[in-house]
Amino acid sequence: MSIKINFNGKIQEGAEISALDHGFLFGDSVYEVVCTFNNQLCFADKHLKRLRNSASGIQLKVPYSDERFMREIVRTVAVAENEESYVRIVVTRGVGEIDIDPSSCERPNVLIYVTPVKPYPSTYYEDGIDVALVTVKRNAREALNPGIKTGNYLNNVLAKMEANRLGAKDALMLNPWGYLTECTTSNFFFARDGVLMTPSLDCGILAGITREIVIQLARENGFVVEEGQWPQEELEKADEAFVTGTVKRVLPVTQLDNRPIGDGKPGPMTRKLMRLYEGLLQGLHGKVEQLQK
Ligand code: PDD
Repeated sequence: MSIKINFNGKIQEGAEISALDHGFLFGDSVYEVVCTFNNQLCFADKHLKRLRNSASGIQLKVPYSDERFMREIVRTVAVAENEESYVRIVVTRGVGEIDIDPSSCERPNVLIYVTPVKPYPSTYYEDGIDVALVTVKRNAREALNPGIKTGNYLNNVLAKMEANRLGAKDALMLNPWGYLTECTTSNFFFARDGVLMTPSLDCGILAGITREIVIQLARENGFVVEEGQWPQEELEKADEAFVTGTVKRVLPVTQLDNRPIGDGKPGPMTRKLMRLYEGLLQGLHGKVEQLQK
């Protein structure tokens, strides 16, 4: 895989990070994933804002201004020369003692990874994917708030491994109180009797940027959207479902635990939102160019 890594401002093929970086030792880091569309960065401003919120959630000082981030990202994407790029921005606590206490870490490290985007197979969008409701619970907000996008993704890794064992493409997690939350790297939506439903932020989920845009698009186009706390039983009556994320965009979910959702095909609301989201990305070209200046 071709990969360019901008390590504290220096672009290289690979990056050797110290084994004493607390990002490596303790998952003490934050990150974001941004993708390009027509080779333009999408929603970079929103991702940088969330990166800063995540960093403040773990009291990590981000060493770059947004302008510096944009400069470095644009420069690295240009060097990579991919048709479309996947950009992962990571800020780690930095090098310190082998001690849980971060106060020995003097300087955060900033890494910007750029690789070609690996699109999901078109059959996933045409037929939908199957998701398993797993036993691994999403972290409680009081433990490690899922609203903070840290480099500590072991909760999601374990859920994904359980989904793999069950032969499903992704895992849907409940919170410790039994309410639906999200999938391992995406937000979850379902529809029932023409109402679009999605777990509310207080269930303990990442405030997905695609989620926010899809909710807005849905409301602008006359859909009723409810954000709330729902137990898994609510899904038995679902007519359709989908997940959202920067890489996946809007991806239909047509099976849950090997049982079809609705008629087992991507539903009309899902297909409409897929079209609306793609249309928005197409239309955003000018705005995104402006962002890069
Ligand atoms: N993941 N929930 C979780 C746990 C996520 O990791 C992500 C994003 C989302 C969707 O958020 P957004 O729409 O802002 O991409 C929801 C990225 C893509 C990742 O870690 O690869």
